Amino acid sequence: MRIDIITVLPELLESPLSHSIMKRAQAKGLLEAHLHNLRNWAVNEYGQVDDYQYGGGAGMVMMCEPLANAIESLQKERTYDEIIYLTPDGETLNQKIANTLSLKTNLILICGHYKGIDERVRQQFVTKEISIGDYVLSGGELAAAVLVDTVGRLIPGVLNDETSALFDSFQDQLLAPPVYTRPADFRGSKVPGILLSGDPKKIEDWRYEQAVERTRQRRPGLLEE
Ligand code: 6GU
Repeated sequence: MRIDIITVLPELLESPLSHSIMKRAQAKGLLEAHLHNLRNWAVNEYGQVDDYQYGGGAGMVMMCEPLANAIESLQKERTYDEIIYLTPDGETLNQKIANTLSLKTNLILICGHYKGIDERVRQQFVTKEISIGDYVLSGGELAAAVLVDTVGRLIPGVLNDETSALFDSFQDQLLAPPVYTRPADFRGSKVPGILLSGDPKKIEDWRYEQAVERTRQRRPGLLEE
């Protein structure tokens, strides 16, 4: 999978993309993430990419031309499955959306800033709008980092047995069960006996029961869905 990210703050995305599982996905050649500074397509020598909004009001709006030119220069090189705009008024990201996106080949992510991007870019170019939750970030970059991480780790071959996504929270609308490591007794608090039983069937059943119970207590809505 190739992901092209258009942003005015590429530095904000460098670190999240170059460590841990994202680093490994790229090293294995399974994920290519490319950062593009929108100012390369600025409308003038001052690097302008935003302007005052028509109708007045506080806050700048990201202009059509730089975004359109950035997108079109990428589209000249390859076909994109989705052009995604990260915005608080988009569809809220969940595991199902991440699963679907993980099967795509080429994605463009647009990170918004200020008051957002000109509505005509959304109408003419954007194919999908995603939010990462009901709160406001200063820009789309951290949301893009979240999206790339959650999608990238689902690309077939990125995770090994140890990091397998199959048992993640949400993968089957259940939260993950509690986990324990050594010591078996921490200040008098003991690891549940079943986990030390060596009986894989019993352990699997226990984990499933715990997952259901945890989901019922914390996120009952997930069980109804
Ligand atoms: Cl995608 N962008 C911004 N600016 N804020 C957000 C968001 C995105 N998702 C939740 N809050």
